[in-house]
Amino acid sequence: MLDKQSAIPIYVQIEDYLKEQIAQGVYPVKSLIPSERELTDMFGVSRMTVRQSLTNLVKDGLLYREKGRGTFVAEEKMEQPLNGLTSFTEDMKERGFVPGTKLISFSQVHPDPQLSTRLGISSEALVHKVVRIRYADDTPMAIERSYLPVELFPTLSEEALQGSLYAFIEKQEKLVIGQATQRMEAALAKTEDAGYLHISLPAAVVLIERVSALDDGRIFEVVRSTYRADRYKFISEIGR
Ligand code: GLP
Repeated sequence: MLDKQSAIPIYVQIEDYLKEQIAQGVYPVKSLIPSERELTDMFGVSRMTVRQSLTNLVKDGLLYREKGRGTFVAEEKMEQPLNGLTSFTEDMKERGFVPGTKLISFSQVHPDPQLSTRLGISSEALVHKVVRIRYADDTPMAIERSYLPVELFPTLSEEALQGSLYAFIEKQEKLVIGQATQRMEAALAKTEDAGYLHISLPAAVVLIERVSALDDGRIFEVVRSTYRADRYKFISEIGR
């Protein structure tokens, strides 16, 4: 199984072997893989080498550890296209998941200077501040903090926010969503967000800020989302 003469380090060969076994379904999603001791015996290498391979696979998101239980195969990450201006609800349905929402808070606030610039409104104006946890089936995937001008959506209610915000805008308000700009960056999860997302600290997350406009150019939302880096992969189609 291992080539000890090879220029490829042993721990990398073990990683490749385990990746192959996972890809072939020998170890299905959420199943327990052999223990460090078993792998040590199986490969005839030191426990340190095996530990290094497993740690790398955990860091890559292919495996996860549970204290006192062992190491398991992680679920495949969600592939999120970056091209279309889709809603969370549409994205989940497209992939065969049941979209879920938990409304954490809904209030009306004055925007800070950065927010009022992004929204193109005065800092005297009011915005709806909406904090929602978004689920795929029962798994928390992201937290969304949305800011929408009250003037544009005077009837926005807690009830509407239990479902799809884009459906409310398009079907109820009969407005046409045009285009958006997204900014993406990596970060470490804050304690509060790790609690919402059921992840243990330290944990990597992806922050995406979306500024979206209606077809007439009016900006209708600024959304700051925190996505679980262990559950998401972002895809974009690029041409030349
Ligand atoms: C995505 C976007 C948000 C948008 C939301 C609407 O998650 N990142 O900017 O507000 O979709 O989703 P829904 O219509 O399901 O509420």
